[in-house]
Amino acid sequence: MSEWTPTSWQSRPAAQQPTYPDAAALERTIAELSCLPPLVTSWEIQTLKTQLADAAAGRRFLLQGGDCAERFDECESAAIASKLKILLQMSLVLVHGTKKRVIRVGRFAGQYAKPRSADTETKDGVTLPSYRGDIVNRPAFTADARIPDPALMIRGYERAALTLNFIRSLIDGGFADLHHPEYWDLAFVRHSPYAEEFHRIVDSIGDSIQFMEIISGARVGQLNRVDFFTSHEGLLLPYEQAQTRQVPRRPGWYNLSTHMPWIGMRTANLDGAHVEHFRGIENPIGVKIGPGMDEAWLSGLLDVLHPDNEPGRLTLIHRFGAHEIADALPPLIECVQRSGKTVVWCCDPMHGNTEATADGIKTRKFEHILAELEQAFEIHAELGSYLGGVHFELTGENVTECTGGARGLADADLAVAYKSQVDPRLNYEQALEMAMRIARRVANGAPSRGPRSTR
Ligand code: PEP
Ligand code: CO
Repeated sequence: MSEWTPTSWQSRPAAQQPTYPDAAALERTIAELSCLPPLVTSWEIQTLKTQLADAAAGRRFLLQGGDCAERFDECESAAIASKLKILLQMSLVLVHGTKKRVIRVGRFAGQYAKPRSADTETKDGVTLPSYRGDIVNRPAFTADARIPDPALMIRGYERAALTLNFIRSLIDGGFADLHHPEYWDLAFVRHSPYAEEFHRIVDSIGDSIQFMEIISGARVGQLNRVDFFTSHEGLLLPYEQAQTRQVPRRPGWYNLSTHMPWIGMRTANLDGAHVEHFRGIENPIGVKIGPGMDEAWLSGLLDVLHPDNEPGRLTLIHRFGAHEIADALPPLIECVQRSGKTVVWCCDPMHGNTEATADGIKTRKFEHILAELEQAFEIHAELGSYLGGVHFELTGENVTECTGGARGLADADLAVAYKSQVDPRLNYEQALEMAMRIARRVANGAPSRGPRSTR
């Protein structure tokens, strides 16, 4: 294999990249970004890798979640705090149900670039470049708005830094202190159909903490600090390149824009630029795998991205949809088993279950999301594999983008608070309910052998 450098991706075909009209401006931006301080550190990245190694070995569980795409104008305190709260609440429920430590990884502080099915969009005879996320261009359907603007990479870096700064301050200030669940209690929980169950779990965790403290005669100090890690799709390669650095006293190169970048479905080509970038960085990485991924392709990815079988290095995030997972996943699990390599298996039950309502609104059904997850647990268990994590698109707000759940949201309710410009997210109640359903499932042992498809 040829030598890897932070720019070696440039010699490979790079899918899903914008065409910047001003090449000199792009170069200036990359140079500027390359000098700005990193967003995360190599030791945090190594800590996450160690924790993911535990998840690969069945000792921890990964909860990854957040917006499909973050928006620059939603970088505000309430939205960030709500996202942390819902992730924290879900993780508590999962700890309680799985009896495992949960690794919390947000889709935040950098989730600004989106892959699109077409390079252009045509409306009323006018064709413009597609909107590719706030870090590339702007959503309004005007020629000006859609011109890819490299300066938006600096704005994205700054928004990511502001987001992370607030998250770190909240956590340092005791926001996630398990002695004080009221700090992260979302007002909605009181009105949720799951309020009682959630508060039972919180009380039981509180009792356990108290018990531990009485037994040990000490305050369980670690419990006022709960880690959150960041992740985003490593899509926009000039941005990723500019933050990829060497650090003092550690070998190798780190992508310091996030702890855990992942390669999306549309950019996982073996000979493509994204795989080239990812093969050279020390971070723990994810790869989305879905329909079309065959064993030869997956083996190739294992060879290139996971050559040394380094613990915690690779997370495979499968996203087939409730109707396809039963056929598609088993051969890929067996393929990894034959390779002798260890990965974290993570189920993204969102991206294979997107559909349109009769009115053409993009949505997802709670039941399909849950059905894919349940099958995922079952398939891994049957094959002697461990499902080590889940990946959701969710928000701490009260949006109406996915249907179903305890409140029975219907297609007609979607218009009430549909905010996403891209994929539909679980709202806070649906997200918490999802965590409870998973936790119950795991707590009650092997699921019943129901029909595998919801079709
Ligand atoms: C996403 O995670 O938002 C996404 C685009 O997913 P995928 O690459 O799996 O389609
Ligand atoms: Co999405």
